[in-house]
Amino acid sequence: MANDFIDPPPEEVAEDKRPKVAYPDVLNGLEEAYLPIRKARISDVEALLELVNGFASQNLMLPRGPQYLFENIRDYAVIVDEAAGGQIVACGSLHVLWDDMAEIRSMAIHPDYQKRGLGRRLVEFLKQEAGQLGIKRLFTFTLSEDFFARLGFTRKLRDELPPKVWGECSRCPKYFKCDEVGMVLEI
Ligand SMILES: CC(C)(COP(=O)(O)OP(=O)(O)OC[C@H]1O[C@@H](n2cnc3c(N)ncnc32)[C@H](O)[C@@H]1OP(=O)(O)O)[C@@H](O)C(=O)NCCC(=O)NCCS
Repeated sequence: MANDFIDPPPEEVAEDKRPKVAYPDVLNGLEEAYLPIRKARISDVEALLELVNGFASQNLMLPRGPQYLFENIRDYAVIVDEAAGGQIVACGSLHVLWDDMAEIRSMAIHPDYQKRGLGRRLVEFLKQEAGQLGIKRLFTFTLSEDFFARLGFTRKLRDELPPKVWGECSRCPKYFKCDEVGMVLEI
């Protein structure tokens, strides 16, 4: 049980046998072994800032500062590329909102690693974590409606959303011109 949230360490595989491909039709156990998911650590904060704020500068997600990341580091899970020296290539976070609901935040997959199933793996990981906490619903505000729809989330109208989900809005740069959609998954 101690390692519930951490993939098993990768087994050593000869260099010529390592997967070299980058698209989902070749995803397999070996790829997962080289791109394990683990909970974030304080030492990941600098890489997380770069990953998240790179997308935030394109207006694809909310920016995060060091204070937010340090305070909420236990919310975050990361995927590392062992073959690239343990570089962080993806992140996502689970933020508990209330007794029955948690929010998926900060989903960010490095552009070179997108469309390989990493986003799905991260959401599944966070979903498992939510289930273990006794959470019944996942929520997200996103511009990536199609991605979350593929994972079973459904779009909700603004007045269908519980008040708790608006907590961050007053601190959001998009407060007066929000273009994100609210989506929910019952788990
Ligand atoms: C959106 C994002 C998290 C998706 O991650 P990803 O690792 O590329 O997605 P996956 O490969 O796990 O895809 C899972 C499913 O969603 C689909 N999908 C992924 N991105 C999609 C998109 N932009 N439009 C439509 N479908 C998409 C995939 O085809 C796949 O479907 P399938 O499993 O049925 O074949 C990633 O593209 C990203 O980080 N984007 C930039 C930042 C961002 O927009 N974050 C979300 C803000 S909340």
